[in-house]
Amino acid sequence: VSVPSGGTLASLDTPTLLIDLDILDANLERMRTTCRERGVRLRVHFKSLKCGGLAKYLHSKGISEFLCAKTNEAEVLADAGITDILIANEVVGAAKVRRVAELGKRVKLSVCVDDADNVTELSAAATAAGSTIGVLVEVDIGMRRCGVEPGEKAVELAKHIQRFPGLKFRGLQGYDGHLQMIPDAAERRRKCLEGLASLMMTRERIRAAGIPVEVVTGGGTGTWEFVAGFPGMTELQPGSFLLMDAAYHAIRPEFACSLSILAAVMSRREGWYVLDAGSKAISQDFGKPAIKGHPGEMVRKLAEEHTIVDCDHPPEVGERREVFPAHCCATMNLHRRCVAHRSGVVEVEWPIEASGRYD
Ligand SMILES: Cc1ncc(COP(=O)(O)O)c(C=O)c1O
Repeated sequence: VSVPSGGTLASLDTPTLLIDLDILDANLERMRTTCRERGVRLRVHFKSLKCGGLAKYLHSKGISEFLCAKTNEAEVLADAGITDILIANEVVGAAKVRRVAELGKRVKLSVCVDDADNVTELSAAATAAGSTIGVLVEVDIGMRRCGVEPGEKAVELAKHIQRFPGLKFRGLQGYDGHLQMIPDAAERRRKCLEGLASLMMTRERIRAAGIPVEVVTGGGTGTWEFVAGFPGMTELQPGSFLLMDAAYHAIRPEFACSLSILAAVMSRREGWYVLDAGSKAISQDFGKPAIKGHPGEMVRKLAEEHTIVDCDHPPEVGERREVFPAHCCATMNLHRRCVAHRSGVVEVEWPIEASGRYD
């Protein structure tokens, strides 16, 4: 499929995944300006993007550090010319550890660990490949997902990593995913600062053991401004702020939604209409999507290939709507291509290479 640049959105088939580059640029500038002012580096999370063309675009704007969740995303980033990549996750099992060790020959690569045996596995693979893998100890600062407890457990693991060839202990990751969607900003901030305090206590203990801690990374779109201003944080690692979605926009209105699904009205009745894109094109794991520019049109329900929207004056069959998904990252994972535009003029079509992959 090829979409000519310079065309308008009216020339596109539906459903098509759209990215408004002017909005994305503004979101990037907003984040980048504050990071610069506060002296913290910005590392962009590729699990939200999954698209090599978008990584290249950001790179052309000066973003050179990325993180991602999966090995395949790291490979897509490397293929897009990105040379500083953090897999912000534990990587386990011979097949993936081998891939990671190979990738360590091409780029500056780091991974997270929370397990001593995983350290052994990574070290053996890096030694066999002749590469170096950077390692961050993941610290559980309250999310209760991956990570070791703050304090002594993290110190022990950092010391353990230092004994293994092929690995370089770089620092700590503490991600506060349990806080991102807390609607009350004061509560979100208070809990975020508590978590970061335990991360810094951990950093101090590791330093006191004589081990340098070069990197302390964390934060997401929901907690970005609290993490960016916290003494000792070297790096912020948000992803959604670029594309945004209806759920995050309610929490973080300073970032606008650049991602939408262009859909057509395929049926209408008194009091509702139906769009030709459903849950196979619009993620609903974070709630209902919203209709761009039509606040009175409320999504009632998504079926696989249909979205039912309630409203007083339904549009005609064939009319178009843009849908803001409730979760941008999961929506990128549903599509194989996206069309980037500025004010409705098509600029480029990109494949989304890492979508639909879990390896
Ligand atoms: C490790 C890690 N860091 C950062 C983020 C922040 O992403 P976002 O800005 O999309 O909330 C996530 C989101 O899942 C994550 O898992």
